[in-house]
Amino acid sequence: MIIAVDGPAASGKGTIARALARHFNLPHLDTGLLYRAVAHTVRRLELDPTKEADAVAACDFDELTLADPGLRDDEVGQMASVVSAHPLVRAALLARQKRFAHQPGGAVLDGRDIGTVIAPDADAKLFVKATAPVRARRRHNELLSRGKAITYEQVLADIRDRDARDSHRSTAPLAQAADAAPLDTSNLSIEAAVERAISLVEGQARGKRGVA
Ligand code: CDP
Ligand code: CDP
Repeated sequence: MIIAVDGPAASGKGTIARALARHFNLPHLDTGLLYRAVAHTVRRLELDPTKEADAVAACDFDELTLADPGLRDDEVGQMASVVSAHPLVRAALLARQKRFAHQPGGAVLDGRDIGTVIAPDADAKLFVKATAPVRARRRHNELLSRGKAITYEQVLADIRDRDARDSHRSTAPLAQAADAAPLDTSNLSIEAAVERAISLVEGQARGKRGVA
């Protein structure tokens, strides 16, 4: 079973994807980490994220980068959305994600283009959303708990910026797949969101198998 979980920043897609992976006993890939690793590498090598050739050079990042706690920083998220808009960067990361999605037994992936580009054939697709202020509050709390000095207003501005950039790029923009089930987590606890996600996935998978 392939499960695609897409949505904007801090909508809760990662938390939901991890819970689905546990529930259905599937491997999970947070695809945002790949773009964050490219951004982190661009910064470490003092390259220019707006130059496609520079960003492409960073796609060959050291695998250990994926475990770097610095990947979660707000600036890295912002830069990830700049490098991810380059078509050649997306192309460089495509095969790895497709392979993960289509491994024997299935997988859960979360990102922006899983249901539309990486696994249009997924058995279940969720599009997780929440209002920008709710998402900014969540991300702000997360950053504060990691000891980052940043204001709520700055996090909200960054989230709005990233939403706009991710939704308006020409290659694989953030968009709900026509066959994805929307899941608004604005007023849901994590537990309630996960419960709803499991039932949506079960419903979609049953539908695909042609069982009423
Ligand atoms: O966790 P959060 O939603 O804040 O961000 P992320 O999922 O780690 O993604 C960071 C950035 O990578 C996003 O803003 C997108 O620009 C990009 N991304 C993408 O373009 N496609 C994906 N499948 C995943 C992430
Ligand atoms: O992966 P994405 O950036 O979409 O979001 P996340 O990392 O799963 O969630 C962002 C933050 O919101 C985390 O601190 C979650 O614990 C929290 N969250 C929440 O408060 N309520 C939810 N229904 C889902 C997530």
